[in-house]
Amino acid sequence: MTASDFGTLQIAPSILSADFGDLSGAIGLVHDQIEWLHIDVMDGHFVPNITIGPPVVKSLRTHSDLFFDCHLMISEPWRYLEDFKKAGADSCTFHVEVGQTEESIKRARELGLRVGLSLNPDKSFNLVEPFLDKIDVLLVMSVFPGFGGQSFIPDVLTTVEQARAVVERDGLHLDIEIDGGIDATTAPQAVAAGANVLVAGNAIFGQPDPAAALRALTSSIEPR
Ligand code: DX5
Ligand code: ZN
Repeated sequence: MTASDFGTLQIAPSILSADFGDLSGAIGLVHDQIEWLHIDVMDGHFVPNITIGPPVVKSLRTHSDLFFDCHLMISEPWRYLEDFKKAGADSCTFHVEVGQTEESIKRARELGLRVGLSLNPDKSFNLVEPFLDKIDVLLVMSVFPGFGGQSFIPDVLTTVEQARAVVERDGLHLDIEIDGGIDATTAPQAVAAGANVLVAGNAIFGQPDPAAALRALTSSIEPR
């Protein structure tokens, strides 16, 4: 359960597009290529879909020592941070849209979690800027959260650029993660804008050979 130093360029496969009946099998296909695994938690309230909760995270933890990057697309994340920590989450990312951001950051810190803050594609960078020196990960949504396999919204690259500029200016230890519609075409655009953690679901687990798809995606962002 280790995480690389901040700023390491990497791909975090999202199990949202994997076979939910064989999640540990799906993870096994890619685990030797990755450090982070992206786990999408949805409550049917903040987003119109329901997925994974702490019991599934707990079960996965017995099968994997990857860094569990839990993306909480839920309305009251502060109520569940402890449950996710106990289940084996390494990082919990919650959305700025749900409010109580300061309190959730404090709670996650107390629990020893790595702390992430996310914003939807239609939200201004100004909403998250005041928190950048208090968190470990900024997760920029490049689709509206709720479902895998949607098309990348290029406007959010501006948000990524703004975040990267603040990180450079202030010397922050912050990962800039992007999530939604990442494939071999959009991944290099995200990296050029300043993202260093790229979430990809459909481009990996939606493909016939996830291991080969991840290798292809990785090579799309390797320096030439
Ligand atoms: C969307 C989730 C994403 C999703 C990305 O609400 O937060 O993590 O799995 O899936 P793709 O890569 O298929 O857009
Ligand atoms: Zn996600």
